[in-house]
Amino acid sequence: MFASQALQGDKPSQYEQLEAQARALLAGESDRIANAANLSSLVFHALPDLNWVGFYFFDGTELVVGPFQGQPACVRIPLDRGVCGAAARTRTTQRVEDVNAFPGHIACDAASRSELVVPLVDASGGLIGVFDLDSPLPARFDEEDQAGLECIAATFIESLR
Ligand code: SME
Repeated sequence: MFASQALQGDKPSQYEQLEAQARALLAGESDRIANAANLSSLVFHALPDLNWVGFYFFDGTELVVGPFQGQPACVRIPLDRGVCGAAARTRTTQRVEDVNAFPGHIACDAASRSELVVPLVDASGGLIGVFDLDSPLPARFDEEDQAGLECIAATFIESLR
């Protein structure tokens, strides 16, 4: 049984603890669906003020929803649409303080106010998909959240090998 531990201390040290929990959770398993599902659940329950955490996977043409926690979401996202498409296309993390001010934002859950999307790129530069987090609070994600969640995303990519 996985016993989740409450995160302690300042934000960087909380992300260190979350990172350790993620590594323990994925250790010895390389199945993409299993690891995406467990990581979505871990992060959704560990961090405050989130309404959606999950994965979209690139099928060679567009992004297709994978394992997640939160309300049902749009299934397919072309790379030229939305915050997720922008992260996948540019291969850079998109940290959006106000989703309503982001051109082309796709509202899957009307509660979402801010969003962080980390691109997932494999060691040879191939696009795997994106790791997407939504919050009902404006400007929920700062630079420390971005750094911490990019590490979690890197742990997911490493687990696939
Ligand atoms: N808001 C995203 C769509 C995915 S949902 O947030 C789950 C976007 O604009 O790409």
